[in-house]
Amino acid sequence: MSAIPIKDKTGIAKMREACAIAATVLDGIKPLVRPGVTTQDLEEAGRDLIAALGARSACYGYQHGPRRYPAHTCISVNEEVVHGIPSFRRVLRDGDIVSLDVVIEHDGWIGDNATTVAVGAVSPAVGNLLRVTREALDLGIRQAQVGHRIGDISAAIQEFVERHGFSVVREMVGHGVGLSMHEPPEIPNFGSRHTGAKIRPGMTLAIEPMVNLGGYRTRTLADGWTHVTVDGSPSAHFEHTVLTTDHGPEILTVPRSVSAPITV
Ligand code: MF3
Ligand code: CO
Repeated sequence: MSAIPIKDKTGIAKMREACAIAATVLDGIKPLVRPGVTTQDLEEAGRDLIAALGARSACYGYQHGPRRYPAHTCISVNEEVVHGIPSFRRVLRDGDIVSLDVVIEHDGWIGDNATTVAVGAVSPAVGNLLRVTREALDLGIRQAQVGHRIGDISAAIQEFVERHGFSVVREMVGHGVGLSMHEPPEIPNFGSRHTGAKIRPGMTLAIEPMVNLGGYRTRTLADGWTHVTVDGSPSAHFEHTVLTTDHGPEILTVPRSVSAPITV
């Protein structure tokens, strides 16, 4: 296990900037979600906004085994958990949910955030899935205190999610983020309190519960990227990049206002 990178003042300032850009992009594409829009429309809006803000997508060309990720954003609909590839064939319908994941690099530093949005009116169970996953993220962040351990974040998320009858994905985990998209530590959304690495000031952590309405099992589609639930149940994903400090966790992925709204 390699050491968890601690960011100094300069690194923190650069992480702040990268994360603000990532959040501004996510915030910019979220309002475009509505029935009739394709996931490719959202991708193109994201791609253009990333460029307009002077950043680069950390997903585009990202290498995993022999494959390179072909888009600037990850857009996952319904039973797709994460890493869905945007497509002009995928038209959003009333009652769908769509997870938007934006990871950008700016000046060498990376910001990572995600959210899940309802398309039109969703069923009460799916609405509850979104609320519980969002709140699980908040509870996880609240555990990112200096002196706590990574397992405190994991356990808080898992306990809350399972108490509401949903399940946490096991195959993918949150992670440290900084000069690379994935740094130590791994931050599972399941685990036990008082276990794992100790949290110190200056860590930047991508905390990201992925929660399924049904069972926790996932599989990868033949495209090599898209993770889906095995039972076909819908899945939600919320993510922030968080800085640990002596006075508590600070969410870095906070949007800035953009001058002109974008449209599709
Ligand atoms: N937020 C995703 C992650 O941490 C971003 C993946 S980019 C991709 O895994 F290229 F791998 F899709
Ligand atoms: Co992430």
